[in-house]
Parts: sequence; C-alpha cells; structure tokens
Amino acid sequence: MDKAFSEIMDALVRDCEEALEKALPDPQDMPEGEDPAATVADAVRYSVMAGGKRLRPLLIARVSDIYGGRRELAEPFMAALEMIHTYSLIHDDLPAMDNDEFRRGRRTTHIVYGEGMAVLAGDALLNYAYETALTAFDAVQTPAETAAVVRALRILARNAGIFGMVGGQCADLEAEEKPAGSVTDGMLEYIHSHKTACMIRSAFVIGAVLAGAPEDDIRRLDRIAYETGVAFQIQDDILDVIGDSEVLGKATGSDEKDGKATYVTLHGLEQAQRDVQERTDRALRELDSLSVQDPFLRDLFLKLVSREK
Ligand code: IPE
Ligand code: IPE
Ligand code: MG
Ligand code: MG
Ligand code: MG
Repeated sequence: MDKAFSEIMDALVRDCEEALEKALPDPQDMPEGEDPAATVADAVRYSVMAGGKRLRPLLIARVSDIYGGRRELAEPFMAALEMIHTYSLIHDDLPAMDNDEFRRGRRTTHIVYGEGMAVLAGDALLNYAYETALTAFDAVQTPAETAAVVRALRILARNAGIFGMVGGQCADLEAEEKPAGSVTDGMLEYIHSHKTACMIRSAFVIGAVLAGAPEDDIRRLDRIAYETGVAFQIQDDILDVIGDSEVLGKATGSDEKDGKATYVTLHGLEQAQRDVQERTDRALRELDSLSVQDPFLRDLFLKLVSREK
C-alpha cells in the first residue's frame, strides 16, 4: 500500500474505533454478577470490538471531511452505522439464517454466548445505534445542522429496515427455498442492492448530508454507493468461493453449504469478476463528476476490486 493511502486509512479506522469505544456502554458501569444486563453488554462488546474493516463508518468520516463537515456531528452516526452493521452480521450468522461459526477471526456470537443471547445482542445493538445517533443533536450549532441530523436519521433508518437491508435479507432467505436455477438476475440485483448496498448508501449519503454537501453531489454519491455496494457484495460472493478463510476471518463455502444463489452461481466466477470491475469503473466515472475530488476515495475503490477480505 502506498504511504499516503495507508496513513489516511489507519487514521480513519482509529477514529471509527474511538467513536465506537466512546459510544458503547462502559463495562465498569455494568459489572458482571451485579448488573443483570452485563451478559448482553458483554456479547455486544465481543462482536463490535472484534475488528472488521469499518468500511461504512470510515466512509461517513471521509465523505464528511471532504465537504468540510464537523466530526462531532459525524461520530454518533459512524458508531451507529457500524452497530447496525454488526447486529446484521450477528443475526446473519445464526443457525436460522446462514448458520456460520466464524466471523471477524473469532467464533460467532451465538457459539460463544448461545442463540438467545446472540438474538438479544443484535436487538441491543440496533436499539443502541439509534440512541447513539440521536446524541448528534447534542452537537448541533445551527438550525441547518439540526435539519441535517433529522435527515441523516431518516436515511439511516430507511436503509436499514424493510425497504433496505432487512428487505434484502428477507429475499436472500426466501431465495434459498427456490428451486435451483429459478432465481433471476433481477431477484439477485434486489438481494445485493438491499442487503448490502443500502448500508453503503447510508454511509456516503449521511456523510454528505451532515457536511451540507451540494444536493447534486448527494444524488451522485448515492449512485456511486449503489454501484460500489453491489460490487462489494459480488466480491463477497467471489471470496466465499476462492477466498482464504484465515484472511477473511470467516468460513469460505458458506453460500454453497446453504444452497444460496449468488453472483457466482448465476454468472460464473469470471463474469462476476468482470462485473465488479465494470461497476467500479462506473462509480469512478461518477466520482470524477463531483464538485470535490478525493484521491483517497479513488484509491479505496480500486483496492476494493481486488480485496481479499
Ligand atoms: C460483511 O461485511 C457482510 C457483507 C455485506 C458482505 P464486511 O465485509 O464489511 O464485514 P466486516 O465489517 O469487515 O467484518
Ligand atoms: C450478508 O451477506 C449481508 C448482511 C446484511 C449481513 P452474507 O451473508 O453474504 O455476508 P457474510 O458472507 O456472511 O459476511
Ligand atoms: Mg447472509
Ligand atoms: Mg452470511
Ligand atoms: Mg457472503
């Protein structure tokens, strides 16, 4: 990795970790054996602080930065989006869903804490995400910032729910029950764009809205996020087939085990790889048309094409 890129990346990831650390309940306030909710708080911390690429919160931070936004407004949303993402992973790994035992290089939350506690850890994170995002109101300084926080909250909620990630997960689960070969391109586009791209759209658009970016740029960023998000899920499907589980921190072959229709089963490995490239090229062209230019975002998109984790 070139130095400028990796330095910016390391600093952004550090900022994400700090925002999460600041937002999560303090274990000292919830001592084990004394606080009845200590176990679920422990399970939350176990899953959130296990690393992960922090892609979504770092995108909020970077997009906010390039439009001159204030980090005090962005931080609650950075933590909140990563909490919602982590909850989606905890529930996605449950036996009733993808039934996976490794995530972020460690055993999944339900393996360590039991299924009931993993359900609750997900519930707790989803709830805590909104509690955390709402603290952005404490940092507002102008009526325009208040309006921006309200708008960001609506985007966060919409993209995570029935019309977003949860809707995509619903279609993903139901597609498993369909006879092989009956899942169409359109259905797969729905699944990928909702279960994955919606959360990436939240990242780009919330960062831009909080910073008061021009409306035209916000619309373009939403399209950039759509292409990048679908490409991200296609690459995830590819890595499930050809990735290294040690590097990924999760098992490979999970989609095949579950009989899932993926971009690779529908189009084959080579077409899938070409489509990741093509969608990234589209995103890069649109990136060029923004009113501000950021070499870091350009490099990030290029690196995501060949990511190994
Ligand atoms: C995994 O997301 C789930 C998908 C949407 C493919 P990430 O690949 O961003 O997982 P972490 O956060 O780095 O663990
Ligand atoms: C998950 O997609 C997307 C979520 C909303 C969690 P996958 O099921 O492919 O993600 P992994 O491969 O388990 O990380
Ligand atoms: Mg899944
Ligand atoms: Mg899964
Ligand atoms: Mg996957």
